[in-house]
Amino acid sequence: MTQYSFPDNFLWGAATSATQTEGSIAHDGKSDNIWDFWFKQCPNKFHDGVGPTVTSDFYQQYHNDIQLMRKLNFNSFRTSLSWSRLMPDGENINPQAVDFYNDVIDDLLLAGIEPIINLFHFDMPMHLQNKGGWENPSIIEAFSHYAQTAFELFGDRVKRFTTFNEPIVPVEMGYLNTYHYPAVVDMKRAVTVAYHSMLASAKAIEAFKELNTDGEIGIILNLTPSYPRSERKEDQQAAHIADLFYNRSFLDPSVYGYYPKDLIDLLDQYQLLPERVDGDEALLKANTVDFLGVNYYQPRRVKHRDEPIDETILTPESFFSYYQDPQRRMNPYRGWEIYERGLYDIAMRIKAEYNNIPWYVSENGMGVSAEERFMNDEGMIEDDYRIEFYQEHLKWLHLAIDEGANCFGFHTWTFIDNWSWLNAYKNRYGFYRLDLTTQERSLKKSGLWYSDVAKRNGFSY
Ligand code: BG6
Repeated sequence: MTQYSFPDNFLWGAATSATQTEGSIAHDGKSDNIWDFWFKQCPNKFHDGVGPTVTSDFYQQYHNDIQLMRKLNFNSFRTSLSWSRLMPDGENINPQAVDFYNDVIDDLLLAGIEPIINLFHFDMPMHLQNKGGWENPSIIEAFSHYAQTAFELFGDRVKRFTTFNEPIVPVEMGYLNTYHYPAVVDMKRAVTVAYHSMLASAKAIEAFKELNTDGEIGIILNLTPSYPRSERKEDQQAAHIADLFYNRSFLDPSVYGYYPKDLIDLLDQYQLLPERVDGDEALLKANTVDFLGVNYYQPRRVKHRDEPIDETILTPESFFSYYQDPQRRMNPYRGWEIYERGLYDIAMRIKAEYNNIPWYVSENGMGVSAEERFMNDEGMIEDDYRIEFYQEHLKWLHLAIDEGANCFGFHTWTFIDNWSWLNAYKNRYGFYRLDLTTQERSLKKSGLWYSDVAKRNGFSY
């Protein structure tokens, strides 16, 4: 048996987001965000017609849920603030939201759980979306105003904030395919959205640094290692381009404060560059992150694209193609590849190419359908597949740390089964099973296993 021990003070916990757990979408002064609005407009767009109204009801049940986290020996937990709850009209602070988030933060601290607070997790307030959302440059100021408000309200107790969770997702899902609102396909607009997100992140970091607190600020990125099909120059170039679009367009400005030249040249060649104004470069350069959160689920397997580029409908995939490695192992429910070594590769890359900046695994998880199949006589879901999934990822992470990776924690996705943007409750990820009728939470075997890992700061295998 090998013992896998992790560094002192390693963070163990889970992540989630406001929209996916809070519920109470029209309570206590909250205004609509794009999900609330879209669900009212087109419920049929949502899996099983289930929208953000059906959640684990964290808004009402946080106290109980935090006790459950404690039982699992979490020492940290990440969720997001709901922008449309905290500042329903974008200007005025909603006192009921302040009370709620204060209570959550205080409860977490009382339970010995560090709150990591994220500011944006796909949930643009509708009144801002109506003005163009991330497309409108005025969003940069609006976001930094919201961020500063959050820092001032909660920064005395929250020592780690993050500006965004996966900023590529609203770009990709909202502007390159039609899964998220506003559901358009327009690469030029997508690039603008990505650019304004990065400027907004930098502006929020500037506001944070001006407050001169003892806290830290980071960003959470879903990094997808891009593996070329072969050593051929063309496949390597395809992997390079996929990496530029999906990783480096956020990683480089966040850590270095500037964009990769290859990306700028490529966008320029296809007239896709966003409008830039004086001061943008300096803003990015001066406001880089203190740490990274890395969400890792799966890699990208890419090859040279044989078809000619159709300039009338450009997307990142105009410049490369995907291929299926026959050896790969899949999570058949979510349709994502399981490739644990990818986490090690990310770790080594951050070490070698990104100044070995401090980072943590901010999400890793396995969504599985119809888990009731695995329920034992005592009513516990025996999700050994999830235990194995985490164990294998942690082994690679452990090796990376041994080799000098500056990783300070591991958060799973997620704590209690939560609502998903595209799949509602089809794929479940939680340590606790959520009964949607009774709201009952029941511990899965993986939760029991994880509580032991968190307690022992590692595991033997
Ligand atoms: C991450 C997101 O990308 O993956 C979460 O930050 C999301 O919000 C999670 O729920 C799992 O993806 P899905 O689509 O299966 O819910």
